[in-house]
Parts: sequence; structure tokens; C-alpha cells
Amino acid sequence: MTRNRLPVLVTGATGRVGRAVVGQLLDAGVPVRALTHRSEAAATLPGSVDVVTGDLTVPESLDAGLRGVSAVFLVWTVPPATAPAVVERLAIYARRVVFLSSPHQTPHPFFQQPNPMAVLQATIERLIAAAGLESTIIRPGMFASNTAFWWATAIRAGSVVRWPYGAAETAPVDDRDVAAVAARTLYEDGHAGGDYVLTGPESLSQADQVSIIGDVVGRRIRYEELSPDEFRSETAGSWPHPVVDMLLAAWGAAVGRPAFVTTTVSDILGSARSYRQWVADHATLFVDGPRPSS
Ligand SMILES: NC(=O)c1ccc[n+]([C@@H]2O[C@H](COP(=O)([O-])OP(=O)(O)OC[C@H]3O[C@@H](n4cnc5c(N)ncnc54)[C@H](OP(=O)(O)O)[C@@H]3O)[C@@H](O)[C@H]2O)c1
Repeated sequence: MTRNRLPVLVTGATGRVGRAVVGQLLDAGVPVRALTHRSEAAATLPGSVDVVTGDLTVPESLDAGLRGVSAVFLVWTVPPATAPAVVERLAIYARRVVFLSSPHQTPHPFFQQPNPMAVLQATIERLIAAAGLESTIIRPGMFASNTAFWWATAIRAGSVVRWPYGAAETAPVDDRDVAAVAARTLYEDGHAGGDYVLTGPESLSQADQVSIIGDVVGRRIRYEELSPDEFRSETAGSWPHPVVDMLLAAWGAAVGRPAFVTTTVSDILGSARSYRQWVADHATLFVDGPRPSS
């Protein structure tokens, strides 16, 4: 294992994966600089982190944070316009980049549906390669934590989970495992050129995932199948249309076949957390009562 003396710049450091990457790097003794575009976010990060402000939509705002870093963990959740200028700047200051992408090259129907985010991620991967940066591409499938965003409110309220494509199988990957793999590739030698598709260890239908939550919280949760059009109506006004279309297309294409499952997480970390484990560790999200602060 190589201990970096220079800090790693973590973008998306207040987000699901980036925040866990920060924790993993600190645990490994790697100095961390965290990028945030909201100055108030500094207070939510560990005190030992050097927090810098910068905005991926304003490339020149990144210079101060990039100065003197060994590597960058790149999470892109903003529009594409500034990606070329940002990657150009990364290449000036850093030797390595680890990019949080998606399995858009994986030949399973779930990953081969129209997906504007995947198009953007493919573009960023090409920019990284063209800039001559040493890179590792991290490609997680569906995050286990998505299911809390989707179903926790209904489950906490004791309501039925109304959802489309209950038979569609996915292999939810624990966000902590995604972050742990990403962190390893930032502080351990041997991951330059790595291209890692990360999934959970088992294929589970969406209806099975709801049942697992019920098992863990100790009550039966009713599941009601929605048609795609009903789902569109239910989410209208609260979810962006392109996201709804992307998810419906992916789930629709996944029906009738097992999800794509890799062993990459356990190959790199020694074990991979199951979806049941993720639910057990986050059960408070699904039971009524005071919410945890993070
Ligand atoms: N959800 C899934 O199932 C899934 C699966 C595969 C891949 N992915 C990919 O994972 C990525 C999202 O990761 P995540 O869920 O960890 O993110 P997240 O929780 O949505 O957090 C987004 C992060 O982006 C930062 N950010 C937003 N606008 C910014 C700006 N203008 N400049 C700099 N930083 C900005 C936010 O920081 P501030 O605190 O500064 O706002 C925040 O830390 C996406 O690229 C997605 O495609 C997701």
C-alpha cells in the first residue's frame, strides 16, 4: 500500500459516495481535501479535512483546491458544458483521477437503455483519456440507498409501496462498498487503468427488495404494481421526466432475466455487503420515529 503525502481532492464530498470516500481515505491515513460549492457544507465534514470551495460549473474556481493534490475523486452531477475545461484543469494539477461513472458499456439490457447521464459519463471518460490522466473508472449499478429515497416515506407511514416493474431484477450495491473500492483505488497501487463494474452480490426483484425491508423491520409491507403510465402520473411534478423515462426503460428491459452481478467488490475488498445487510444497517429509515441526522 502506498501512503500518499499529498492530499487527494474529493469532489461530491458531501454526497452519498464522496462523503464515504472521505471517511475511507481518512481511515487509511490519507490527507483529504474536500471540494464543496456551498461553504456551509464544511461544518458537516470531519475536522481533519481541508475543505475548499469550488464549483464544477466554474472551472477557474477549482484552481486553489487542485494545487498540490496527488489525485482527484471526480463525481459529476452538473450539466455537461464545463466538463472539457474541468478535465483540462485536473490534468494540469493532478496525476490521477478516479471517476464515478456507471456500467454503460455492460451488455445487459438494464444498462443499455437511453440514458442522458450515461452519455455524459462516456464523454467525461473520453476527455480523461485524451488528457493523458492516469485513471480508474468506477461503475456502480443501482445504489441500495436509492430504495430509501423511493420507498421509505410510504413504509414509515405504514402505506402500501406502489411501484412499477416489481418483477424487474437489480443487484443493489451498498454505497459504502462503492466508496471503499473508490478509496482503495486512490491510495493503493495497481489500479491505474482499472475499469470496475460494481454490483451487489445478488440479483433481487424490486418486489423482493420490498419484502426484505419488511423482514428486517418485522412487518409485512404490501406491494402494489403500477403501470408505467400510472408511475409517470404519480411522479409528475416531483421527479424530472428524463429520470422517470430512464428508470422505466431500464426496469422494463430487466424483466424476465437476472440482474448483471459482478464479484468485483469482494475481489477488491474481500467481501460485499448484501442488500439485506444494507437494510439492516439503515432500518431506522424505514420505521416511524425521529430521523437520524445524516
Ligand atoms: N444512484 C445510483 O444508483 C447511481 C448508480 C451509478 C452511478 N451513479 C452516479 O453517482 C453520481 C452521484 O453520486 P452521489 O449519489 O454520491 O451524489 P449526490 O449524493 O447526489 O451528491 C452530489 C454531490 O455533488 C456536489 N455538487 C453539486 N453541484 C456541484 C457543483 N456545481 N460543483 C461542485 N460540486 C457540486 C454536491 O456538493 P455540495 O454539497 O457542494 O452541493 C454533492 O456533494 C452520479 O454521477 C450518478 O450518475 C449513481
